[in-house]
Amino acid sequence: MRPPGAICAGALAGVALLATGSACRLAAQDTEATDAGATASTSRQIAPTMSYVHADWLTRPEREEEEHPDRLMGALGIPRGSTVIDFGAGVGYFTWRLARRVGPEGRVLAVDIQPEMLEMLTANMRERGIGNVETILSTNEDSGLPSNAADLALFVDVYHELAYPARTMGEVRDALKPEGRLVVVEYRKEEPWIPIHPLHKMTAQEVRDEIEPMGFDFVELLDFLPRQHVVIFKPSRD
Ligand SMILES: C[S@@+](CC[C@H](N)C(=O)[O-])C[C@H]1O[C@@H](n2cnc3c(N)ncnc32)[C@H](O)[C@@H]1O
Repeated sequence: MRPPGAICAGALAGVALLATGSACRLAAQDTEATDAGATASTSRQIAPTMSYVHADWLTRPEREEEEHPDRLMGALGIPRGSTVIDFGAGVGYFTWRLARRVGPEGRVLAVDIQPEMLEMLTANMRERGIGNVETILSTNEDSGLPSNAADLALFVDVYHELAYPARTMGEVRDALKPEGRLVVVEYRKEEPWIPIHPLHKMTAQEVRDEIEPMGFDFVELLDFLPRQHVVIFKPSRD
């Protein structure tokens, strides 16, 4: 089980910060064996959680140029009125964009394990006048998601941090409707020039090798973003 103190004190992306932070290294080791079944196929080391202390990094102005968030939203073709999960929502960088896409007749379930992140997200939504977002404070052991409720689940820079990936993804599968979609966005580990610590990057093959055995079928890989893979799955039929 992950100890309460395992949330990393360093930011995920600052290569220097993470590479030099002994607390981060310890946390990563603590979580290494948390879900051995899911990670055995890749021997991937689970990354420490990005602390709310570094929340500013999630809204850095250059992020738009690096990640093209609105292009990503457009590519996903999210219908109005749909229910979308923003898993590991942080301060809501994608939540408000999703909320506008689904419109007032739809809703966004914004899930995070850090209450401080959800507090910042709530303030962010209030400032933007957005009222169709529900926050869910999850734990590593319980996502708190309702069953058979969502048309899409979006994971941006989150999957690699899950302490119990198989368990969590089982709950996400249960939360998706049978025709729902799972969208996993991860920094491309195949490209060393991308200035993100390797623990916080994944290859497209790693994403597929881990998630497909968790009850999902691969649908497509989109590689139009400058730095990230977009890997789309649907729940496997039983
Ligand atoms: C790098 S941040 C990304 C935030 C957001 N998706 C974005 O792109 O701005 C990762 C977030 O995932 C959250 N997280 C990590 N493990 C989680 C889990 N098991 N359940 C829910 N949230 C989790 C962290 O608390 C953090 O807010």
